[in-house]
Amino acid sequence: MSFRKSLDEEVAAGLNEQICIEASAAFLYFSMASWASVRGLTGMAKWFRAEAAGELTHMNLFVDYLNDRDHQAKFATIEAPACEWDSPVEAFDLVRTQEHKLLQRMNDLIDIADKHNDHLTQSFLTQFVPQQIADTAGADDVHDRLTLVGSDGHGLILIDQELGHEADAHG
Ligand SMILES: [Fe+2]
Repeated sequence: MSFRKSLDEEVAAGLNEQICIEASAAFLYFSMASWASVRGLTGMAKWFRAEAAGELTHMNLFVDYLNDRDHQAKFATIEAPACEWDSPVEAFDLVRTQEHKLLQRMNDLIDIADKHNDHLTQSFLTQFVPQQIADTAGADDVHDRLTLVGSDGHGLILIDQELGHEADAHG
């Protein structure tokens, strides 16, 4: 059986758009990793790099899925990410916003697939959901912990170490 042009155009467009969204998310994390790296926050830098790699893995899965369904994946320009934050808590405020948007986006894509009765695409998308929920909760946690330590350098160093260990464990 051929899958040729088996995706509805709206579904294919939504999946293709996700390529840029994942790439943009990765670029923001790469940018944050560099920001953290030059500020001595080596654990945080490692954590951001691991997140960036995760987003690129997601991007590849969308590229493969489109190509496997005979809809050639297309690539568009992505905007340059932000590169300056006043503090780690400010950076993580943006991380939190981004992860919540990514979670909402998964829901929206599943909605589009559902509208077209596309159970295969729904099944493909479902694989991202548990991890995206965990990433969203994780980003909220780090943001809350950074808010708790405020300007306490010792607290920040501890969180930095924790993030480094977390990146090592999942790396
Ligand atoms: Fe992602």
